[in-house]
Amino acid sequence: MVIETNITKMLGIKHPILSAPMGPFYTTKLTVAVSEAGGLGVLSHVTIHGTITIDEMKKSMAYVVEHTDKPFGFNIRTARLQPDAIKLCRQLPRFILENPKIKEQCVYLITSAGSPRLIYNKHFEKLKESGSNIKHFHVAPSLYLAEKLVNSGIDGLVITGVEGGGHQSYENISTLILLQQVRKKLPNIPIIASGGYATGEGLASALSMGAGAIAMGSRFISSKECEFHENYKKLVVNSSASDTELKTGIFGPARVWKSKKTENEHLVASKQEKKAGETSISKVEKELAELEMTYKGNVEEGTVYLGQSIGLIDSVESVSDIINTIVFDAEKCLKTAYNAIKKIPVSQIL
Ligand SMILES: Cc1cc2nc3c(=O)[nH]c(=O)nc-3n(C[C@H](O)[C@H](O)[C@H](O)COP(=O)(O)O)c2cc1C
Repeated sequence: MVIETNITKMLGIKHPILSAPMGPFYTTKLTVAVSEAGGLGVLSHVTIHGTITIDEMKKSMAYVVEHTDKPFGFNIRTARLQPDAIKLCRQLPRFILENPKIKEQCVYLITSAGSPRLIYNKHFEKLKESGSNIKHFHVAPSLYLAEKLVNSGIDGLVITGVEGGGHQSYENISTLILLQQVRKKLPNIPIIASGGYATGEGLASALSMGAGAIAMGSRFISSKECEFHENYKKLVVNSSASDTELKTGIFGPARVWKSKKTENEHLVASKQEKKAGETSISKVEKELAELEMTYKGNVEEGTVYLGQSIGLIDSVESVSDIINTIVFDAEKCLKTAYNAIKKIPVSQIL
């Protein structure tokens, strides 16, 4: 079974499925597994305490090319509150350029949470001029941003709706609506749909609406190869679609798993309110520490980013089983829809 799209051709992958970046945690082993299974694995922007981000990314890239010959990608969060973003944007293109195997396999950079422009520097230009196949996508959680991004020179958009896990925009638009809005206004831009995908039905619907691939976070957390803690995986499998809510995260609203901890937490309503509340670095440090708690298994006291798609997931499986099942089911859905059209008399369609 092969579903060929503009994105599979652009990135040189077999299946139209990517793993979504899930910083501040490691997704290095997950990246290898997803790429090996024919999708595109994506390294996360890791900011675990006591590590140096740039070194972690370099190590992760080296690990990936040591364990697979397939293409992969990586994320840089270019947010205002991300102190290492400029350094990563300057140093990583040079590192990729200097490592031929990494340069050959690294085909995708996804910037998010801030401006895509940080990457437009001389090092990135040099990398592109050197014959690298790297494509630059940026996360668009609203139509307004999608329109702005298209004019900034990116190769494609990751359309992420409010049902997705982790950070969200203040607009609260679902992936279903956002995808249609963007397709209508920007019909030619390559799109990866993210937020709410975990099944073949989801992939079929995204392809039907003009996306060339889906990116999944929560579904891949509950895979055998993902390096997240077993307690995190258990939550995904045992929770329902209504077990998440929006709360204030480091960069703004974030979709998290509902717990005793989140009961008394507040949801910021606007960017202005968020900025006014950023009174000390220690607050950001506290939030990062709570994320790390979760990563180490303390899901009750830590912050747990998860999407509504957890309501569709009831087992921990291998990455290749997840991808093969989703592609198989998507093909079945698309064929069923096509056959339904064929059965309608032409006179009724015209
Ligand atoms: C644990 C976790 C961490 C995340 N961290 C990041 C991140 O560092 N950068 C980013 O662009 N998106 C991040 N996201 C959002 C995902 O890339 C993706 O948009 C989201 O998981 C899609 O929704 P889904 O979980 O329903 O698949 C994170 C999501 C989760 C669940």
